[in-house]
Amino acid sequence: MFTIRQFRPDDHERIREITAEAFDGVSIDQGIENEFGRINDRSWQWRKKRHVDVDVEREPEGIFVAESEDGEVIGAISTWCDREAGTGHIPNLVIASGHRGQGIGRALIQHALDRFRAEGLTHARIETLVQNEVGRGLYESVGFREVARQIHFAMEL
Ligand SMILES: CC(C)(COP(=O)(O)OP(=O)(O)OC[C@H]1O[C@@H](n2cnc3c(N)ncnc32)[C@H](O)[C@@H]1OP(=O)(O)O)[C@@H](O)C(=O)NCCC(=O)NCCS
Repeated sequence: MFTIRQFRPDDHERIREITAEAFDGVSIDQGIENEFGRINDRSWQWRKKRHVDVDVEREPEGIFVAESEDGEVIGAISTWCDREAGTGHIPNLVIASGHRGQGIGRALIQHALDRFRAEGLTHARIETLVQNEVGRGLYESVGFREVARQIHFAMEL
């Protein structure tokens, strides 16, 4: 069993850790590192963890965590509201390995969508890599529809 609660500042490092571990194989930064090696002596995990910092900086009240019965943070979702545009964004969703496939990711997305509705937004946006079949399956199953695909490039200078 798990509960969903609001993010607290002392969750920050744990979410950074889960994020670096969870995005192995489904990270743009990792794809760049695979192609070019480490850049500026920083790993792809270091780069990925910074996404959590951006989320916390932007809208900490839009971050929610899933907590196990023994109080461990086992998943997190970040959201932010573009009220002027009427859209809610979900930049990051992670479930710790060992806790996946139990409905926690789905519950966090539903929580995020409920937040958007409560804020009066009419549409939600999320993105995933083509190779992330689990993410894609999950998003389509909660009602997201594919609208575009993007190609990420990088080059040496
Ligand atoms: C993607 C992720 C957040 C899903 O969370 P989860 O708690 O494991 O997913 P759930 O148990 O809620 O499963 C929801 C749906 O995902 C899909 N899914 C889950 N595990 C799957 C698997 N191994 N293979 C294919 N689809 C799968 C199914 O559609 C499932 O629905 P169902 O149980 O009704 O069949 C989680 O696996 C994760 O953290 N992955 C690594 C990081 C990541 O990819 N984040 C998203 C980036 S966009």
